[in-house]
Amino acid sequence: MTTLMKRARIAVVGAGGIGAAAHLPAVTALSDEAELVAIVDLDPARLADAVETFGPTRGYADLGEMLAAERPDITVIATPPHLHEPLSIQAMEAGSWVFCEKPLTGSLASADRIREAEQRTGQWCVTVSQFRYSGGSRQVRDALAAGTWGRPLLGVAHTSWYRGPDYWEAAWRGKFRTEFAGATTSQAHHAIDLLLWLMDSPWEQVAAYADTLSRPIEVEDASVASVRFRSGALATMLSTVLSHNQETRLQVMAEDATVDLHTLYMPLLDEWSVRRTDADGTRVVEDWAEPEEPVQAHRAQLANILAHWRDGRQPELTCAEARETLEFLTALYKSSAVGAPVTRGEIAAGDPFYEALDAAGPARAEAKHALR
Ligand SMILES: NC(=O)c1ccc[n+]([C@@H]2O[C@H](COP(=O)([O-])OP(=O)(O)OC[C@H]3O[C@@H](n4cnc5c(N)ncnc54)[C@H](O)[C@@H]3O)[C@@H](O)[C@H]2O)c1
Repeated sequence: MTTLMKRARIAVVGAGGIGAAAHLPAVTALSDEAELVAIVDLDPARLADAVETFGPTRGYADLGEMLAAERPDITVIATPPHLHEPLSIQAMEAGSWVFCEKPLTGSLASADRIREAEQRTGQWCVTVSQFRYSGGSRQVRDALAAGTWGRPLLGVAHTSWYRGPDYWEAAWRGKFRTEFAGATTSQAHHAIDLLLWLMDSPWEQVAAYADTLSRPIEVEDASVASVRFRSGALATMLSTVLSHNQETRLQVMAEDATVDLHTLYMPLLDEWSVRRTDADGTRVVEDWAEPEEPVQAHRAQLANILAHWRDGRQPELTCAEARETLEFLTALYKSSAVGAPVTRGEIAAGDPFYEALDAAGPARAEAKHALR
């Protein structure tokens, strides 16, 4: 006898780039566990396309109308960043869990309002971090946390991506009001969040430079950072959209082995390697040679949320955990602005950086604009 799984009613808000490429395919691929009950988008043509491609389902132009009519169990928010806070809170107030695209939001103050809404409504807001859910990442994290390769000592997270001028044609991109920040938060978020998770110790202090070196945008297109962890470990980070040779590179040098990842958009199992050096030379101690079927990592994270939802358990990466990465990013921008290292916990209410991820960014952009 087969037991039917309890299916969650899911709505996807935002059928643009990532909504149509990742979230809608993820929900429909998990049809044993999830039912796509609605798609919401302000753009009628996009909405019609998405309903035709991923339906049968209903299309709405307004989140409030959809929430009242459909009462979804989980609402996916895949809109531009400045809408994440209001739409997530609105969905939670209507009794829905939220699965929200990164960056969760544009300030620690805003994250605290989302956290307050979680507590008030009894719902959860989970942030997308699909790198954590791609095959190899979980295996590497578990092995590092178990001490298999000794203590993590040094880390590297380099996001060297390329975005040409057409990328900023979408009106919300490149502006503080709608995107909040640039390459470090929008693109390097994946690698930074993954490294912070793998190092198995909270970050303690960051010293950084962030600037707009080339693109005609307000937000930064490059940053470099040095990080110290509570354990004493150190890390270096580089985040840019200016590299003509695209790569995402992660490294954790632990006492007994070094873990490497070379990838671009999805850390698959066979893109990780672990090497050890001893008297006999350097050898690979783990190479997950079995190439895994390409995992659509948004799907893997959604499957993880669904398993928690069915069991009535708190999901992973709710607001409190996502806030940790947001605090790190805020500290990175503050360090660049003040020209000094910033320590975990020092950005609190009353600090302009509590109210905006890159609080000094607009003045920096204005000064650059005046020089042009
Ligand atoms: N996790 C990832 O790998 C990844 C990749 C790309 C983008 N993103 C993130 O996803 C989010 C969306 O990015 P994108 O590239 O898909 O943007 P996009 O502009 O391509 O799509 C956004 C969609 O939201 C719709 N929209 C705007 N306001 C709305 C509203 N009030 N109600 C309903 N729909 C509304 C727009 O019409 C558009 O179709 C951003 O936060 C971005 O950082 C994540």
